[in-house]
Amino acid sequence: MAKNDNLRQAKAAKKDEFYTQYADIQMEVNAYLEYNPDVFRGKTILLPCDDPEWSNFTRFFAENFELFGLKKLISTSFAVESKNTKWYEPTLFETDTPKFDKKKTRTHGKIFVLERDVNHSGRIDLDDLQWEYLEGDGDFRSKEVKALRDEADIIITNPPFSLFREFVAWIMEANKQFLILGNINNICYKEIFPLIKDNKMWPGKRLNQRVNGDNMTFQVPDDYPMTGTELYIDGGKKFISVAGTGWFTNLEHGRRHQPIQLMTMADNIKYSKHKEIKGKEYVKYVNYDAVEVPFTDAIPSDYNGLMGVPVTFINKYCPEQFEIIGISLTLATTKPANLPKSQQGGPAFYLQKEDGYQRLYPRIVIRKKS
Ligand SMILES: C[S@@+](CC[C@H](N)C(=O)[O-])C[C@H]1O[C@@H](n2cnc3c(N)ncnc32)[C@H](O)[C@@H]1O
Repeated sequence: MAKNDNLRQAKAAKKDEFYTQYADIQMEVNAYLEYNPDVFRGKTILLPCDDPEWSNFTRFFAENFELFGLKKLISTSFAVESKNTKWYEPTLFETDTPKFDKKKTRTHGKIFVLERDVNHSGRIDLDDLQWEYLEGDGDFRSKEVKALRDEADIIITNPPFSLFREFVAWIMEANKQFLILGNINNICYKEIFPLIKDNKMWPGKRLNQRVNGDNMTFQVPDDYPMTGTELYIDGGKKFISVAGTGWFTNLEHGRRHQPIQLMTMADNIKYSKHKEIKGKEYVKYVNYDAVEVPFTDAIPSDYNGLMGVPVTFINKYCPEQFEIIGISLTLATTKPANLPKSQQGGPAFYLQKEDGYQRLYPRIVIRKKS
């Protein structure tokens, strides 16, 4: 394998072990509850790709089991020997019970189920979680985890970064509701974009957004190499902040139905805060019949033709306001004639400039709904 491939794989593997913080889960889940207080009532939730002993997903949903009116909570974990990291400490939760198996703890996944008041405390909570080793390593693609997926109504997790596409396909195959973490760049994947376009998957409340100036932050394993400014240590634990990350879902939330407030084309040209728009005109691409709109807040409210907008538009996308036609990565089937070598590459839209062409970053093509 080439050195670069090795590096790339190692990098992707490290990102498979980013752990979600409790407050981030809480903040996101609140958006769905605000929209529909009964969103989880009577539902079975599966949290695959978790280490239930210390996953914040398991803790959060177990603590809110009664409040949300859950029917059943199932979490599964992936065996350490199958992971891309060897960072692992069996917790007292596991070692303190007669079920503990020195070998299985490294080679088998685990399943944690919460369904009833096992300890007769008068309420169902974290202390009622029952666990077993799985038959296999807990791979979400295994037969036994697939059966759990089929039993569940809603799949919630931060899936391994390197298997994002496969994970989404796994959910879609079973036609389940879901709430998962990902990155805004994922929408450009050829397997993911059609789902966004067809309103089968959309950004959650928080995607690619800084909160109090910060990107979303994840805990990383203790052996994670401390390189890069995005890493820091807090209370002895290592954290990483990652631009572009956030949630994808097919659960409804309010923000998704708020139309963007926009000006007409004439007003944009007259008053826009963007120097690229003010006093200029909206121009069409050389190789596709749509106008270039370089900023989401500069979409003209009165233009009825096709418009190309940056990928970050997706965060403001309201399906009642706009229809998504496609993405330049598949729509740009031709290139301008005599394109210099430096501007070649995969499919992209181009603008005519005085001294040649401008090759653009991926654009989503949209049309106003009448
Ligand atoms: C991004 S981490 C998130 C962990 C946890 N869901 C959280 O948010 O704190 C993804 C987890 O999935 C596990 N994983 C990797 N490949 C997997 C697979 N094929 N099946 C199940 N889990 C897997 C990783 O080892 C890692 O613990």
